[in-house]
Amino acid sequence: MRRKIVAGNWKMNTTVAEGVALASELAANFNQVPADVNLVVAPPFVHLTSVAEAIKGTKIALSAQNCADKAKGAYTGEVAAGMLAGIGCQFVILGHSERRQYYGETSATLVEKIALALENGLQPIYCVGEMKDERLAGKHFDVVKAQIEEVLFGLTAEQMGHIVIAYEPVWAIGTGLTASNEQAQEIHAFIRKLLADKFGAKVAEDCTILYGGSCKPSNAKELFAQPDIDGGLIGGASLKAEDFLAIAQSY
Ligand code: PGA
Repeated sequence: MRRKIVAGNWKMNTTVAEGVALASELAANFNQVPADVNLVVAPPFVHLTSVAEAIKGTKIALSAQNCADKAKGAYTGEVAAGMLAGIGCQFVILGHSERRQYYGETSATLVEKIALALENGLQPIYCVGEMKDERLAGKHFDVVKAQIEEVLFGLTAEQMGHIVIAYEPVWAIGTGLTASNEQAQEIHAFIRKLLADKFGAKVAEDCTILYGGSCKPSNAKELFAQPDIDGGLIGGASLKAEDFLAIAQSY
């Protein structure tokens, strides 16, 4: 059975104190979240230890927003997957479009990051999605297919069982534009078919595929009702506990 996940990507927002306040509010109201929905928060690196403390004893899981493509050593400014696992992270977001666009992250780097995340027991939330011009040119299936093939197809079926995928059309991230339910479902089904052809029906059926891109309380219910959408990766709306909890209640 695949898991339902609602994950909050805080990006580079909130001070540590604000982040702890947000996490504490989520922890205090956690009983509003349906039992079968897994809530995940992904604060900035420097918040992780304090947020871990704030969500202790709840079912809220901790995620980082990135990790290094090297295990350890002389890589100034980087944070290794093992370090994240050591402070209680269970997930790590990898391949977010902002990392691909602004920090030149490539498929080759992401292959290394995913391998290290898995080696350290972290579950990658691997992001894919097309840019606006690619969608307009009708290339969205090809783009997503390449992102999946180049980064995930070297994994074993067992490893693939630990991967969460997030489909995030870049034109919908932080823009207020959301993919229509049909557009999102169509790509999610396409991704699941790619996985079935490569890894077998069971792996594909069990893989959690999240939608991301201006997901909010007003549209989450319809999106999550689609058969191949298993939750959301939420940016802006995850910064307000009330909105994030409302999204988590949208199943
Ligand atoms: P958004 O961001 O919800 O603010 O559009 C989603 C994401 O980038 O993960």
